[in-house]
Amino acid sequence: MSDSFEDRIASYTARVDQGLDAALPLASRSPERLHDAMRYAVLNGGKRVRPLLVYATGECLNVATNLLDAPAVAIELIHAFSLVHDDLPAMDNDDLRRGKPTVHKQYDEATAILAADALQPLAFSVLANVQGAPPGAAIQLVRLITDACGSTGMTGGQSIDLAAEGTALSAAELEHMYSLKTGALIHASVVSACLLSNDLPAADADALDRFGRGIGTAFQIKDDILDVEGDTQVIGKTAGSDASLNKATYPAMFGIEASRKRCDELLADALGSLERFGDSAAPLRWLAHYIVERAR
Ligand code: IPE
Ligand code: IPE
Ligand code: MG
Ligand code: MG
Ligand code: MG
Repeated sequence: MSDSFEDRIASYTARVDQGLDAALPLASRSPERLHDAMRYAVLNGGKRVRPLLVYATGECLNVATNLLDAPAVAIELIHAFSLVHDDLPAMDNDDLRRGKPTVHKQYDEATAILAADALQPLAFSVLANVQGAPPGAAIQLVRLITDACGSTGMTGGQSIDLAAEGTALSAAELEHMYSLKTGALIHASVVSACLLSNDLPAADADALDRFGRGIGTAFQIKDDILDVEGDTQVIGKTAGSDASLNKATYPAMFGIEASRKRCDELLADALGSLERFGDSAAPLRWLAHYIVERAR
């Protein structure tokens, strides 16, 4: 194994892209337009942060890479579905995603809704086919990811986000919303690798649980900072979208400086959770820094 996680990122992203490609129906298969839209939604240049967290946690716990492929692919499919819905006119009404037209712009609204609908069960079919996992792990993965995706996870957070437009939220309310809409899938990425580890001590599981929560919330604060400060060309999304929708965000409520400071606190706390793992957590440390320091 080469010494820096950064050197392995290209091979992990190629690996998850291959898994996604294999899981998605061919665009030549009927209904062609739906399958084409599903592939467009997924295979269009995302950063793949959630799969990278699955693999990095797996490296930390010495889980075989081939066991990590199913949660990495499944969580990225759920994430892609959430982005397609998030961009719809009824939600954030965005035209640009990953530097390209959003799915409803490229196809049409009905196709976007249906493509996202179909990505969600595809994720669970990938999990159902996981081979060689510890006994019971597949069903635990399904439970983890359904919870992270459902009304007390990402979908619930999105509902709170929409209801909060034009209102003022406290820091605690904002972080609750972030922990659901974005944090839940990021936390699940870390915990999925824990579920595939044999005999993980409870204290180690707790530390990774805490790590996953911290970086999940930091991820959304950084996303909000990039919406204010980022360049559309670089972030691949229309900068300033949150302000034009009157979104309740950390920068809108407390300013950029306080947002940066909160990200740094969450990073420090997340890094603290990793201390017990020593060098084996270097990939997770790298990703935690990346999450708060990234430019897109
Ligand atoms: C964007 O997620 C949506 C949020 C939850 C903030 P990412 O920043 O991971 O988007 P991609 O997958 O890299 O496009
Ligand atoms: C989170 O927030 C989105 C999801 C849970 C899909 P945003 O609405 O800020 O995400 P972007 O900025 O559109 O990617
Ligand atoms: Mg949104
Ligand atoms: Mg959005
Ligand atoms: Mg955003």
